[in-house]
Amino acid sequence: IERFELEDPSFHPYTSKFDYYLDRKVQLTAQELRGKKLFDSPTGGNCASCHIDQVGVDGSHPLFTDFNFQALGVPRNPELRANADPKYFDMGLCGPLRTDQASDKSNCGLFKSVSLRNTATRQVFFHNGRFHTLKDALRFYVQRDTNPAKWYPKDAHGKVDKFNDLPVALRVNVDTTDEPLTRKAGERPVWSEQDIDDVAAFLATLNDDYVLKPKQSK
Ligand code: HEC
Repeated sequence: IERFELEDPSFHPYTSKFDYYLDRKVQLTAQELRGKKLFDSPTGGNCASCHIDQVGVDGSHPLFTDFNFQALGVPRNPELRANADPKYFDMGLCGPLRTDQASDKSNCGLFKSVSLRNTATRQVFFHNGRFHTLKDALRFYVQRDTNPAKWYPKDAHGKVDKFNDLPVALRVNVDTTDEPLTRKAGERPVWSEQDIDDVAAFLATLNDDYVLKPKQSK
């Protein structure tokens, strides 16, 4: 397939193993393929519903985002200095930094779906940098609702303070309808630790600068 470049190719190199896989220049390993299946499954991870991984009609390689806004309820990050003030909340689309959408409270807590290209190279994840490993970010997705006490601190009454990075009245905005964010406390997470390893292996194929071995190229 001929790819049409709108900008200088060096701006978005598309040199990941996954790009070469789409161009049929390399195979994914069995583990990476397992991870992709878990990532795609609408009743499992359901990740691809927001982090789109389909090739475009024009043959363009996927960006792993739908450019939409969602509230995932990422836990508050006590490492951020601004969060020392219990009344301070970074609510994304409704402010306080952004002001143009602030009047509609249904926007509070919503952040843009980010591309997952090169995400496996990062040490901070989500808008507030709450997680420092990719696997913890993945665990959060599948255990947010099944094991909330693992992710959120307890409030003054000893109750798990779920979605604690939003004012209580705005926590209704957090997504509880898209898989895998629909489970109940005590239910089994949709992914096992093995599944998380497999998805992490798949996501690592999205890192640029993959070196094709001469034998693998056709
Ligand atoms: C309902 C849409 C939606 C679904 C489903 C979804 N994501 Fe996300 N993803 C987002 C949004 C929105 C963000 C940014 C949220 C934020 O920063 O608060 C994000 C952020 C991330 C990040 C952090 C990237 C970074 O660089 O900070 C990772 C990793 C990620 N998603 C992986 C996944 C995986 C794996 C799945 C499947 C279990 C998944 N996502 C399912 C919308 C979604």
